[in-house]
Amino acid sequence: MALAEKYAEQIKTTMAKYPDKRSAVMPMLYIAQEEYGWVSPEGIQEVAEICEMDPTQVKSIAGFYTMYSEQPKGKYWLQVCTDLACALCGADKFYEDLKQELGVDDGGTTEDGMFTVEHVMCLAACDKAPMLQCNFHFQEKLDMDKMRGLLKQWRDEAAK
Ligand code: FES
Repeated sequence: MALAEKYAEQIKTTMAKYPDKRSAVMPMLYIAQEEYGWVSPEGIQEVAEICEMDPTQVKSIAGFYTMYSEQPKGKYWLQVCTDLACALCGADKFYEDLKQELGVDDGGTTEDGMFTVEHVMCLAACDKAPMLQCNFHFQEKLDMDKMRGLLKQWRDEAAK
């Protein structure tokens, strides 16, 4: 189903906050990424139509910001902060253990397409280190026991 149809109410509400359709391109890209798991060519085209923009302009915006992914990701995109405050609280070891648990390297995606992991710079939750964001939702004060529980929870949710 096309974004404009599936997310009609959300798009309408969001558009109402902006002076013109073009100004809403970034929230529209979030919707596309949420739907497809990445900013796919199909998503770019649909956002361009919604915002009445040229697809090339939409693609250039998606390419500029790191919160948009122009590559397919796993269903759960795990961005682990390894910046200073988190590193001082064991984030490097945590990230190594997480990669080992999932059998992937930095930036890799599990064979089942469930998880993509990558390290990122400070996410502004330094007091809750180690932490990560999963599809832009924070998970804080992590250790591998808690992480294994989250991985199971997400796998169970995906199986429903
Ligand atoms: S250093 Fe990790 S959230 Fe700030």
